[in-house]
This record gives sequence, structure tokens and C-alpha cells, in this order.
Amino acid sequence: MLDLISQKKHDENRQGEAFAPEAVDVQQFSKKFYIESYGCAMNFSDSEVVASILHEGGFGATRNFEEADLILVNTCSIREKAEQTVRQRLTELRKAKQRNPGTLIGVLGCMAERLKGKLLEEEKLVDLVVGPDAYRTLPGLIAEAETGQKAVNVLLSREETYADIAPVRLNTDGIAAFVSIMRGCNNMCSFCVVPFTRGRERSRDAASIVNECRQLSDNGYKEVTLLGQNVDSYYWVDEKNDTIVTFAQLLEMVALINPDLRVRFSTSHPKDITDDVLHTIAKYENICNYIHLPVQSGSTRVLQLMNRTYTREWYIAKVDRIRSIIPDCGISSDIIAGFCTETEEEHQETMSLMEYSQYDMSYMFFYSERPGTLAARRYEDDIPEEVKKRRLDEIVKLQNRLSHESNQRDMGKTFKVLIDGDSKKSANDWKGRTSQNKTIVFPKGSHDVNKGDYVMVKVTDCTVATLLGEIV
Ligand code: 5AD
Ligand code: SF4
Repeated sequence: MLDLISQKKHDENRQGEAFAPEAVDVQQFSKKFYIESYGCAMNFSDSEVVASILHEGGFGATRNFEEADLILVNTCSIREKAEQTVRQRLTELRKAKQRNPGTLIGVLGCMAERLKGKLLEEEKLVDLVVGPDAYRTLPGLIAEAETGQKAVNVLLSREETYADIAPVRLNTDGIAAFVSIMRGCNNMCSFCVVPFTRGRERSRDAASIVNECRQLSDNGYKEVTLLGQNVDSYYWVDEKNDTIVTFAQLLEMVALINPDLRVRFSTSHPKDITDDVLHTIAKYENICNYIHLPVQSGSTRVLQLMNRTYTREWYIAKVDRIRSIIPDCGISSDIIAGFCTETEEEHQETMSLMEYSQYDMSYMFFYSERPGTLAARRYEDDIPEEVKKRRLDEIVKLQNRLSHESNQRDMGKTFKVLIDGDSKKSANDWKGRTSQNKTIVFPKGSHDVNKGDYVMVKVTDCTVATLLGEIV
């Protein structure tokens, strides 16, 4: 599943954020739209495609929903809580409609796909429902909704990749950008709703990906994150040149654009990540030494129920392989506590696998049954909520210790850091990230460096979540 470059952008429970470009001249557009995104990086990336389509349709972005003619919420269905948060928000946003009845409210993304017309027809929460593969039809749907018709398009596609659409970068720091390389997922993990909400897997034209990355680099961006639910199964047949592009080759093509452009990617599936990919990471200094390798569970029996198609031993062998080919690689994970029938011993197996893997960071959840998934149909959600929460709590505590230990191992080492802005706490400090995706904070001092620059920073101290250091 999708993860991300920065902890903030990666947080599946992340609250919605209003996104608008800093410098759009709204004057040139006759109408204004406001968009809020929830969930994974793919949603944030999709909102940038939506912004581009809306620009073409005569809408400029605003950060203030009160002045918008069109309010859009790009939603997540991954866990029940994500959907609850969105419902609450939609109820709040409807108040804008009381003040200005002409305002249209639309729901995009996974909840639109999962619930289809329900939010519009039964709950009357929205005027517009648009699934992840239907964004090109937004201008037509808006026109329909303006005349009071029901505007719903939740058709999934086997081809749509929005390859030709140049995303409008929203809320950007001008340094790091997401680039979608594929859509959908064919994996059918039994707990996961994504294959139903985002449809079949399809890869985007390699040339369009490289062009988008090159343009970002030409515009001063220093980091791209290639996004897909399962990047290792990226596969593009270039019919013109009669060649095939694998994920390892795509990584290399993007790395060669500019040695100063950092390349990240997300998410890898343990069953699919190849030695080719690992060797490509090792070969290019600008491909970051960081792999998000979700394990989900440390028990082979539970992994089988989850339909992850690997065993505990297979996963351990992958971690060993990563460490042998890329010795200083950061590894992070996604973990689900309390999946159907999980025993206390199996929970302990998850914890021992976390110890073995020495994750630098993890995204940890308790199991939330999703309607329509294989698990919901086949297995009873039989672990009591308090047991799920206690197991999750143990997993979180263990991860905190592992993260702290990982940071302590970095003390005294020097890293190449890309500065991404002022530290949250003090304008006297910079904040940046190492290749391994760790956040590091260090005093600006009298050094003549800026946001977007690379600097060498020596680690002098750390907390659980952050390295502290000084420029050397
Ligand atoms: N319950 C809990 N966590 C889930 N995830 C996906 N589906 C569920 C679910 N039904 C987690 C997985 C995935 C991450 C993005 O979200 O760990 O990798
Ligand atoms: Fe990720 Fe599995 Fe869901 Fe696909 S089905 S999105 S691989 S968790």
C-alpha cells in the first residue's frame, strides 16, 4: 500500500488539508474551487490532477471554502475511522451551502467509489460523486449538478492513468513532489478495500513519467516520489521502440534526469521487490536508501489469511537481502494489530519480526473490517476491540523504542541532507531529510545555505522521531 516521503504526508489518518497553489491568479478564472484531501499520497497526487482539469474548466483554486463555488473532498475508505472523519467534515462543509445555496459540494476518491450514489441520494450530503477514474468528466458533471441533476460517475477504467495531464502542484514547498506511476491494485489482500475502490492495476507511460520528473527538476524541484500501490509490478510496453520498462529501469531513467534530483518511491510489496531494484538503488546516489516494505503481520498463518502471498521467512530473507545490497538502507513498515483469529503468540511473532527488521518507522493500525473485502466475507472479526487496542499499543511502544535505537545508531555520523524548510519550532533552525528519510533539525548559524540546498550534517543528538545535528 501507499506510503510516503515525509511522515506527515504519509499518515493515513492525516486530517484533511485545504490545498491551493500559492500563486494562482484567481482573477483569470470565472469561478473558484476549494479542495481538501484525506488519506494516502495517491489522493494528494490525484487532487493535483483534479486541479489541472478544473483549471481547464475555468475554475481557480482558493484556500478559503467560504468563497468557493465548488467544494471538493478527496476521500479515503481504508479504515472505518477515515470514513467517519470525512462524513463529519462533509456535514460541516454543508453549512457553507446554507450561506450560499449556489455552492456545489462534491465527494471524490475512494468513498465516492465505495458508496457510489449513496452520499448524494440517500444522505443528501453532496451534489456530486466522482470516482478515482472519472476525473476527466468533472467539468460535465459540474454543469449537470449546476442544473440540479444528480451528477455521479464512478466508472472504473482499465486504462486511465491521467498520463497526459500536467498536475497543478497544490500546497507545494517547491522542493518535493509526488509523481503517480500507476493506478489500482491487483493484489487482493483480504483486509483491503483498495482493489475495489481504485480498480485494476495499470501502469502509466514511462515517457510521460520521465517528462513530468524532468519538468519538476527544471522548475527547481529536488525530490520526486514515484507513487503506486505496488510499484514493483510497474510494467510498461513501449510499442514504438519494442521495449519493456520494468520498475528498476524506470527508477534508473528518473535517476539519470539530474544527479541533484532525489528519487523516492512507494509502496513496495515484499513478494515483488526484485534484486534489480535493490541494485539500482545501490548504484545511484540520488535514489534514496529507503524502502517502505509493509509486513502487516509477523505470523505466516495470519499472512496467509491476509492473502499476502509470502511467509515470515520470505519477509526476513527480503530484509536480509536489502541489508546486504544496501547496507545503510532505511526500512519502514505497515502493521495491522488484531486481524481475524490472531492469537497472542501470533501477535508476539509480529513483535519479534519488528525487532528483527529493526524498522526505522512504522505505520500501525488495528484491524478495521471493510465491507465487501475478502476478510469481511470469509472471516469473523473476532478480536475484541480492547484486545486489538492493547496489541496495537504494544506495537507502538516497541516501534518507538526501535525508532529511538535507530536514531541513536546515527549519532556521530554525517549525512547529506536536503533542506526542506524552517524547523517547526524555530526559524533559527533548518529542517531537512536524510536519504534514509529521517527528519533532521540543525541550527542555521552563519552558513550561506537555503531551502532546497544539500548540506552535510553531523548528528549530535536525537529524540524518538528526529535527529539533531550541525552543519559540517
Ligand atoms: N484495517 C486496518 N488497516 C488497514 N490497512 C489497509 N486496510 C486496513 C484495514 N482494513 C493498512 C495496511 C496498509 C495501510 C495503508 O493501511 O497496513 O498497508
Ligand atoms: Fe496494498 Fe494489498 Fe491493499 Fe493492494 S490490496 S493496496 S497491496 S494493502
